[in-house]
Amino acid sequence: MKLPVLASFSLIFVLASWPNQTLADSSLDLQMERMTDAFRPLRAALADPESVNQQDLMNWTRELGAAAVASKDLQPEKVGEIPEENRVAFIEAYQQSLDELIILVDQLSDFILTEEWDAATNQIVLINQSQRNGHKKFRSEDH
Ligand code: HEM
Repeated sequence: MKLPVLASFSLIFVLASWPNQTLADSSLDLQMERMTDAFRPLRAALADPESVNQQDLMNWTRELGAAAVASKDLQPEKVGEIPEENRVAFIEAYQQSLDELIILVDQLSDFILTEEWDAATNQIVLINQSQRNGHKKFRSEDH
C-alpha cells in the first residue's frame, strides 16, 4: 500500500512543478527563441538560395520581424540591474536596437523579393552583428 501512496505523491510533485518550469521562460525568452527558429533556417537556406523556395524565405523573414516587433514591448531581465535613474534611457536604447533589427529584416525581405542574393547574404551578416551587439548591451550576465 505504501508504494502507490509514494507514487501518487511523486506524480503530484511532478505535475505541480510542470507549469513553473514553463513559466521560468520569460516571454522575451520565448520571442528570442522564435527569432532563433526563424533565423537559423533562413541563414542556412540563403547559403544556397537556388535550392530554396522563395515563399519559405519570406515566411522565416516575416516571423523574424514579428518576433522583433513583439520583443519591443517586453523588458529585458537586465533592467533590474540598472540604477533607477538610468532605466528609461536603457529601455529606450533597447527599443532602438530592436528598431534597427526590424529595419534590417525589412531590407532583407526586399532583397529576397528582388532575388538580390549577395545583398541578402550580406544582410544576414548585419543581422548577426545586431544580435551580438544586442546581447552584449542588454542581456544580463546571469541570463
Ligand atoms: C536574429 C537576432 C536574434 C536572435 C536569433 C536572438 C536569440 C536569443 C536567444 C536564443 C536568447 C536566449 C533565450 C533563452 O534564454 O531562452 C536571447 C536572449 C536575449 N536577447 Fe536575443 N536574439 C536576437 C537579437 C537580439 C537583439 C537585437 C536584442 C536587443 C535589442 C536582443 C536581446 C536579448 C535579451 C535582452 C535577451 C535575454 C532575455 C531577457 O532578458 O529576458 N536579442 N536572444
